Amino acid sequence: MDKQLKYNENTLSVAPMMDWTDSHCRVFHRLLSRHARLYTEMVHAQAVIHGDRDRLLGFDGSEHPVALQLGGSEPALLAQAARIGQEWGYDEINLNVGCPSDRVQAGRFGACLMKEPALVADNVAAMIAAVAGSGRPVPVTIKCRLGVDEENDYERFRAFVDTVAAAGCRTFFVHARNAWLQGLSPKENREVPPLRYDWAYRLKRECPQLTVAINGGIATLADVHVHLQHTDGVMLGRAAYHDPYLLHQLEHALWDTALRSRSELLRSFRPYAENRLAAGVALKHITKHVLGLFHGQPGGRMFRQILSEGAHKPGADWALVEQALAATGSQSRPAAA
Ligand SMILES: Cc1cc2nc3c(=O)[nH]c(=O)nc-3n(C[C@H](O)[C@H](O)[C@H](O)COP(=O)(O)O)c2cc1C
Repeated sequence: MDKQLKYNENTLSVAPMMDWTDSHCRVFHRLLSRHARLYTEMVHAQAVIHGDRDRLLGFDGSEHPVALQLGGSEPALLAQAARIGQEWGYDEINLNVGCPSDRVQAGRFGACLMKEPALVADNVAAMIAAVAGSGRPVPVTIKCRLGVDEENDYERFRAFVDTVAAAGCRTFFVHARNAWLQGLSPKENREVPPLRYDWAYRLKRECPQLTVAINGGIATLADVHVHLQHTDGVMLGRAAYHDPYLLHQLEHALWDTALRSRSELLRSFRPYAENRLAAGVALKHITKHVLGLFHGQPGGRMFRQILSEGAHKPGADWALVEQALAATGSQSRPAAA
């Protein structure tokens, strides 16, 4: 089958990650992959409604397709926040039903919503209604776990999905493990509960009308090819962040786009970086997302070290990035910026 037809905007995405997938990160990831769908960090509905929207919702035009992930559990608030996100130009609104942190549990949202399918359905229905009225309706999607704590009953997970799908949600990003609500940190909750990819595969088999994208522990091109035989899409989190060139390799493998070198890709980030520097953003906020670009490559450690040690210094600018690039043996600064 023609690759272009087979793979679409659901095929590849970069997961929402607090403190990581900010706008600078997403602009960088977009340079690496033209097709990947990019997700914001989770923003609580209350913050969207009452907070500093420029800071919380602002994004660069190059980021499309870009999805806003919301946290919350009150239909009226989520509806209002979804509408605001849509007006800001997001291409999708995603509801977080997977975060297990204590703070999030205290607010009764995130992963503990896996126990309240009817409430999630109400939330989704309200969000869909809120974005339906405009000339540019956007999809409302869910990112969920398989269950919480010791639940290991597929039928229960399936019932959750059915309830939410009946409210109009068509796309499910499945982080294919449970969340344990007691005793594990959020980090451990991304590692300790066992992965059960077969549940996501089964969901897609049984509900072919739904779009099912799989998430959790996906780290290589080979993994991606396997998962795409069973699901509509793969969502990568940590691997994409720590080894961003993987995103570019995936883009190349899935869509046959030209494979560019790491240094070339990084230099294509320069106009954006310099624009932000001129606006007063410190270099460290921009370059922290590129530290893994030479992961596993000669000079990769030096590249990371030069940027980590220098980017927070007053006046640090793109010259530091060129210095780091030189440590990898990449050609020194090209004539044209
Ligand atoms: C630093 C960090 C922050 C995260 N923040 C969020 C978040 O805001 N919303 C969310 O749904 N998941 C969040 N996650 C979970 C990821 O989206 C993803 O589900 C998880 O890391 C598993 O995928 P991976 O194995 O590909 O990393 C976060 C993960 C990390 C590592």
